[in-house]
Amino acid sequence: MLDKPLVRPQCVLDDDISTILVDEATIQQRVSEIGAAISQAYAGKDLVLVSVLKGSIIFMADLVRSITVPHEIDFMATSSYGAATSSSGVVRILKDLNVSIQGRNVLVVEDIIDSGHTLTYLLRLLSERQPASLRIVTLLDKPERRAVHIDVDWVGFSIPNEFVVGYGLDYNELYRNLPYIGVLKPSVYGE
Ligand code: PRP
Repeated sequence: MLDKPLVRPQCVLDDDISTILVDEATIQQRVSEIGAAISQAYAGKDLVLVSVLKGSIIFMADLVRSITVPHEIDFMATSSYGAATSSSGVVRILKDLNVSIQGRNVLVVEDIIDSGHTLTYLLRLLSERQPASLRIVTLLDKPERRAVHIDVDWVGFSIPNEFVVGYGLDYNELYRNLPYIGVLKPSVYGE
């Protein structure tokens, strides 16, 4: 069955980027550093990494390969933005975990924290399942946009309030495959 057709199938994705905010080498270096810190923090402990789909998949894939301690991975999917460029504050669970996290050390892996609504909701949900510990790693943080306070354990990069795509982050489901974090030209989203 043919699903919704791809928007602008001929476009060159890089042409829609105004600035490269974090280049590929810088991302890889930081991911390695975070992987080393996580490996140290969880040495000798049971660990489950929970990737919040879809944006975190690229970060997750690189991060797990820089973590040297044994761990399990699982995935959750939430919906908050839809096609809009700012958070609605409404969070829905589209896919739940496959594994039980009771009594286990859980590390939630995000690509970006913006308003904080998604993680606030997720943390409440996951903590009700009584994990031994619950910590957060995010590649990107937009502190200016925060609507609710969240304690984040590891942050890759704090960034300004720009509309960024690439390395997992999308606009209308495109640009996730760019190997860098770039600022999307406002003309692309109609400003
Ligand atoms: C993004 C991101 C976080 C959330 C952060 O997901 O991956 O989960 O928004 O925003 P918040 O702090 O304002 O809640 P999105 O809903 O865009 O889905 P995606 O990861 O599938 O692109």
